[in-house]
Amino acid sequence: MIKSSASSPRSGPCPAHLWIFSSIGKKTIVAVTGILLVLFVIGHLIGNLTVFIGPDALNAYAEKLHSLGPILWVVRLGLLAVVGLHIYFTMLLWKENQKARPKKYIASNPVGTTVFARTMRLSGIIVLAFVVFHLAHFTARVVDPSFQTMTTTLDGRQVHNVYGMVVKGFSNVPVVAIYVVGLFLLTSHLSHGLSSLFQTLGITNTRIRKNYELAGRTLAWLLFLGYVSIPIAILALGLGKGAAQ
Ligand code: HEM
Repeated sequence: MIKSSASSPRSGPCPAHLWIFSSIGKKTIVAVTGILLVLFVIGHLIGNLTVFIGPDALNAYAEKLHSLGPILWVVRLGLLAVVGLHIYFTMLLWKENQKARPKKYIASNPVGTTVFARTMRLSGIIVLAFVVFHLAHFTARVVDPSFQTMTTTLDGRQVHNVYGMVVKGFSNVPVVAIYVVGLFLLTSHLSHGLSSLFQTLGITNTRIRKNYELAGRTLAWLLFLGYVSIPIAILALGLGKGAAQ
């Protein structure tokens, strides 16, 4: 009896499936995965800012992350799944918008909807390419293979010299240029994403929504300043000079 209607493929899609693929379901998934990615970006920045405390602080932070072993892999796979869902459901929403546009959509929306969508798509694709470059640079360490053999001593143990790697990585002008452009587009993506988030969440009071939008944009630009301060401090101000050997 339990087997009968609910799980039968003939009984039609289940309510969860219907919600997930409804317009509000897709928007909610894009919003929630976006929030999770922003939380990662905030956490990653806090960890990276230990570069200003000194080599031991950044190396100890990186060492602690690596010592998580299998848990780190679970987090990495979770992050990958979140990125995949964010992209997949964004694409479904674009298709939906594309179908809706020839109707009354254009007239009922203020200027910029199309430009906004196009900017989000372009910045999203470039941010994805930037993250792939970043992973090749600092995680796989294939952009400069010398990063793989950089070690240092921390509390009497030999560990990977993440501080030296970051300093060496950002002593290269074209690499810093890639990061600044990538971080700028990430900020533009976050700034727009965080503003539209409040519409998705159904905040209809214009004054309150405007305040939240401002808070979202401010957060995006604070993240930009925090991230960009690292390559700029290394390249232009000589932070960590001599640490990379
Ligand atoms: C100045 C900017 C940044 C610096 C200095 C930086 C630094 C690093 C370093 C050193 C690692 C390797 C850690 C290790 O394996 O020991 C790393 C990994 C990573 N970074 Fe960044 N990062 C920056 C910006 C970003 C941004 C903007 C994003 C995302 C949008 C990002 C996403 C990641 C991811 C996903 C990893 C892989 C984490 C893992 O090992 O699983 N990073 N970053």
